[in-house]
Amino acid sequence: MRIGWPAGLAFGGDYNPEQWPEDVWSDDVALMRRAGVTMATVGVFGWSMLEPEPGRFDFGWLDRAIETLGAAGISVCLGTATATPPPWLVSQYPDVRPVTADGVRLEFGSRQGYCPSSPTFREHATRLARAMADRYGTNPAVKLWHISNEYGDHISECFCEVSEGHFRRWLADRYGVIGALNEAWGTRHWGQVYRSFDEVPAPRRMPGPGSPSHALDWRRFCSDALLDLMLAEKRVLQEVSPQLPVTTNFMSMFYSMDYWRWARELDVVTDDAYPDPADPHAHVDAARNYDLMRSLGRGRPWLLLEQAPSAVSWRPVNLPKPPGVMRLWSYQAIARGSDGAMFFQWRAPRFGSELHHSTMLPAAGPNSRTFREICQLGSELGALDGVAGGRIDADVAILLDWDNWWALDAEQSMPSVRMRWQAALRPFYDALYELGVTADFARPDDDLGRYRMVVVPNSYLLRESDAAKLADYVESGGHLLVGPFSGVVDEHCRAHPGGAPGPLADLLRVRVEEVWPLTEGAGVAIDLEGSGVEARIWTEWLRADDADVVARYRGGPLDGMPAMTRRVHGSGVAHYVSFLPEDATSILEPALHDAGVRATGRAAVRGVEQLVRGTKAASYLFLLNHNHTAATVPIDAPGTDLMTGAAVADAVELPGYGVAVVLRGAVGTRYEGEEA
Ligand code: GLA
Repeated sequence: MRIGWPAGLAFGGDYNPEQWPEDVWSDDVALMRRAGVTMATVGVFGWSMLEPEPGRFDFGWLDRAIETLGAAGISVCLGTATATPPPWLVSQYPDVRPVTADGVRLEFGSRQGYCPSSPTFREHATRLARAMADRYGTNPAVKLWHISNEYGDHISECFCEVSEGHFRRWLADRYGVIGALNEAWGTRHWGQVYRSFDEVPAPRRMPGPGSPSHALDWRRFCSDALLDLMLAEKRVLQEVSPQLPVTTNFMSMFYSMDYWRWARELDVVTDDAYPDPADPHAHVDAARNYDLMRSLGRGRPWLLLEQAPSAVSWRPVNLPKPPGVMRLWSYQAIARGSDGAMFFQWRAPRFGSELHHSTMLPAAGPNSRTFREICQLGSELGALDGVAGGRIDADVAILLDWDNWWALDAEQSMPSVRMRWQAALRPFYDALYELGVTADFARPDDDLGRYRMVVVPNSYLLRESDAAKLADYVESGGHLLVGPFSGVVDEHCRAHPGGAPGPLADLLRVRVEEVWPLTEGAGVAIDLEGSGVEARIWTEWLRADDADVVARYRGGPLDGMPAMTRRVHGSGVAHYVSFLPEDATSILEPALHDAGVRATGRAAVRGVEQLVRGTKAASYLFLLNHNHTAATVPIDAPGTDLMTGAAVADAVELPGYGVAVVLRGAVGTRYEGEEA
C-alpha cells in the first residue's frame, strides 16, 4: 500500500497545539507553510484533555487544530492519544500502574505509566481509540493513524499479578501441558519442576541466577503483551476507518520488542532516530538502524517520524547538531528508504520535562539558525518528490533474530557479559558500511536466496530448522559467513548436543572445544593472509575437522590454532569466524569478492556515504559527506545534481557536511510486487 500522505516526501513534526493558546496556532501554521511542512503529528499525549472526565469527551480543541492544519494543506498524522493514561484513570484504578521487578508499583507522573496486560487500561484505551476513529476517521486532513507512542520505551515489562497471570496464560498457550514446559526449560536443574502453570512466577528479583529459558520466554511474552495491546487499538481503527493506514513509532534497533513481529502488523514502518552529535560513530549506527527499518517493511519505504532538529534533552550532556548536520542526517534516512524527514517537535514548549529539547521553531523564533536550516530542508524536499517510493537493492543480508538477541544478552551466567548482540554486529556492519556495501537485515527463516551473501554476526540461539535453511542456502550457491559463539543453544536455550556450532557443524565442519573470552583492553593477533586483524572480546579453541583454515591465532594461549575457516559446500561457500574482530574489513572484503558482491566504498572518499535509491522512472545517487571538511567525490555515471540543477560528469564537490542528490537513469529493483 502506498502510504496515505500526499505525494512526495513527508516533512514536518510532532505538533502539540494543546500546550499553546489558540491565537498562537495561526502563527504556527503560517510558519509551517514558510518552512514547507507537509505533515504534522497531533494528539499523541492528548488523553487527559480529550477525555477530561470519564466518558466525557472534549474534541473541540482537536477539531479546531486539525481544521487549522487542513485548511493550510498540512496533512495530519493523528495520535490515538493513548500514550499517557489520564490522572483520573490512574486514581480510579490504581492497579493500572506498572510494577518493577523489585515489586515497586510506579507512581503517576511522567508518561506511559500503565501495565501492558491491564484489562482496565485496554478497555479505556480502545474506547478512546474508537471515539477518535468515529470522530476523525473520515476527516480528509487525516492521513495516518499513530497508535500510542514508542511502545516499551519507559515500560517494556510489568511484574504485577495481572501481568503474571497473563504470562501464565501465554505459557499455557505455548506449551499446552506443564510437562512440556518442564522439558523445554529443563526445570530439573536446581529443582524447579512445576506442577502447574499457576506455580510459574514472573521472573521478579530472585535469590540468584534464574533459568535462561524462563528469562527468554518472559522477554517473548513482554513483547507480545504490548503487541497485543497495540493490536487491540488497531482492530478498532480498522473497523471504523479501514481506508487509513496505521503505524506506531519504533525506536531503531530496540532490544525489548521483536520488531519483526510488530512490523508485519503495520501499514508503514516509522522510526524515531536520535543519533548523538557527540558520537563520531553515530552516522554508522544510524545507517544500520535505517537499513533495519527498510528491512522490517520488507523493502517498502518507511518514514523517519521523529528526530531532533538539534539537541535532545535526555542524555547527560546534550550537544546540538552543528550547522548542516540535521540536513545531512535527514538525507541519510531518505537515502536509506525513508519517504520523508519528520521531527520532534514543532514549537519550543514553555513547560514540562522536554523544555530543553530542540525544536523546529526554537524559543528564539524564526530568526534562528535552526529555523533557517529547517526552511532550507523543507524547500529542498519539496523539489525531490520523485524520490518517494524508491527502493534500494542489497546483495547482502545480515541475520537478526530477537530470540537470539534476548538469549545472548542474558544478564547472568554467560561466559562474558561483553559478548552482546550489538557488540557482535558492530564490526561486521561497520565493515560493510566502510566497503560501501548496502545490506538488508533478514530473519533466519526468510527467503535468503536473493542475497549473494548472508552474514550471521552471531547466532548463539539457533533453531535446527534455521540451520537447515542456511545449509540449503549455501548448497544452492549462497555465501555464508557465521560469527563466533553460534549454534550454542536451541529455541528453548537448551544446549545443542555436541556443543557449538550445533546444527551448523555439518555445514561448517568445525567444532568449538572451548570459548576463550577476552577481558577489557585485551586483544589477540590473527594471521589472515598477511593482513593484521585483531580479535577483541571473544576467541575460541576451535577444531577444524574438514574445512580450510584461512586464518590462525598468533600469540597467547591459542597460538597457531585455527581462527577462521572456509568450506565449499554444494555450489556455495561457508565461512566460520571464531573471534570478534576489532575491524572486519579484511575478513569481509575477500569474502564479498568471492561472492560477487561489488564493494564501492574503499576506493571512494572516506567519510562520504554513497547510496542509490531508485524508482521505475529514475535513479538517485545520494552523496553524504559526514566529514566537516570538503570532499571531491568521483562518480561513475553522469547525471544532474538536483540541489544545484547543474550537470555533473565525473566528480561532485561537497562542502563539509554537504549533500548531493544526483539524478540518473532508472535502475531495476528486486522487491516483491515491483518489476525491474
Ligand atoms: C521520543 C518520543 C517523543 C519525545 C522525544 C524526545 O522520540 O516519542 O515524544 O519525547 O523522544 O527526544
